[in-house]
Amino acid sequence: MRLRGGAGRRRAASVAVGERGSPAAPPAAVPYNAPSMSGFVRGVGGGWACDGVPLAAVAAEVGTPVYVYSAAVIRERVRRFRAGFEPWPHAVHYALKANSNLAVVEVVRAAGGLVDANSGGEIEVALRAGFAPGDIVFTGVGKTPAEIDRAVELGVKAINAESAGELERIAGAARRRGTTARVALRVNPDIAADSHPHISTGLSRHKFGVAIGDARAIVREASGRAGLRFTGLHIHVGSQMLGLGPLRRAAASVVDLARELAGDGVKLEHLDLGGGLGIAYDEAGGEQPPPVGDYAAVLVEAVRPTGLTLLVEPGRAIVGPAGVLLASVVDVKPRADGTWFVVLDAGMSELMRPALYGAYHRIALVEEREADPVTCDVVGPICESSDVFGVERRLPLPAVGEPIAVFDAGAYGSAMASNYNRHPLPAEVMVDASAWRVVRRRQTMDEQLAGEVAAPRGSAPREPAR
Ligand code: LLP
Repeated sequence: MRLRGGAGRRRAASVAVGERGSPAAPPAAVPYNAPSMSGFVRGVGGGWACDGVPLAAVAAEVGTPVYVYSAAVIRERVRRFRAGFEPWPHAVHYALKANSNLAVVEVVRAAGGLVDANSGGEIEVALRAGFAPGDIVFTGVGKTPAEIDRAVELGVKAINAESAGELERIAGAARRRGTTARVALRVNPDIAADSHPHISTGLSRHKFGVAIGDARAIVREASGRAGLRFTGLHIHVGSQMLGLGPLRRAAASVVDLARELAGDGVKLEHLDLGGGLGIAYDEAGGEQPPPVGDYAAVLVEAVRPTGLTLLVEPGRAIVGPAGVLLASVVDVKPRADGTWFVVLDAGMSELMRPALYGAYHRIALVEEREADPVTCDVVGPICESSDVFGVERRLPLPAVGEPIAVFDAGAYGSAMASNYNRHPLPAEVMVDASAWRVVRRRQTMDEQLAGEVAAPRGSAPREPAR
């Protein structure tokens, strides 16, 4: 991920969606999710739509901020993954952390995806979305005793263990229940992901997994232990990766380990190579992830000599381009240098990625029009200077009240939303076959406060305010 668009960064030649070419001559229909024919498209009149549903209509009816998802894009992306790995025994375990809205997860399931859960909560979402325990791999760097016990009780496909100590705790939980837990070991291959430091996970200084040099002894020891059935090895070296090199190297290291273990008599069933395939947040800026087919071919090639089933855990590449965040302009403020602040009703509480990683997201007026663009910083309403969605963007100056679309927000958008500044969690809408429905209501103030316990009225005498 390139650091862009964050509070402190200025882009030299800023090009956002809808600003390419002459604003006076918008092309007839610009499929944004090319080569897919579904997804977010700018219509003849300039207005953006999702699979035939005008985004302006959704914003007007549901209000903003609202996330809008395309079921067609999610389905198509799950299918592309499945097709890419087709030549080899495989399973695509969608990483729920990217977006675990029930409706999203149901679409993934209907398209033949399985799931990767990172917490007890995500396991419960998977079950409620209709997945069987055997469809779930359970990852997580800090699993609580309750989470381990629940995963053992359910008999999930694999618990991806993070340490020798955790393997012991899983074995203990299994023995107490008189059962055997299926486990894999997460290995840290000490490989740089060439991504943003916050989402790189495969170096030895990162907290994830056990050092590759220690893994063989740990597996050999644990595979003989009562309560454990050792099924695989797991790696995940980073997220938003735009090159295949780190993935190839990580796969090779885990394949070597699997061969050594086979020599030791440890019979594995699968290699889980994690997620990490990036998406083109900034296509115009040259950001180009490898096609899923190339990604799959590299992993299959690496795993082939082992004969083992290949598991992957894509999150972003499934749902990222399938979602936009719609926000409304609440203020436009001129600046001394002739540029503008465009202030939205959504900020880092709804979409944290720009503030947290300096991440770049395309931004466009929902109703694009022929007008000379101005240079503006698109900012949120939160009381932090990092609350900036885009710096030096070129947009026609919007009117107060106008909806704005922030693209590629389907992954790690609503999933990372918070109540900071007492913002309600945003509404979410799913578009499917030219129809749409609300799949999460906007949180009400009562819901937000439901768990909070105030002192009984009158129990604490109030001191004078001055
Ligand atoms: N598997 C494991 C073990 C993971 O830790 C992750 C992501 C994935 C799979 C899915 O990775 P993906 O295919 O989505 O790259 N909040 C950050 C991303 C954090 C990713 C954490 N782990 C962001 O907004 O960029």
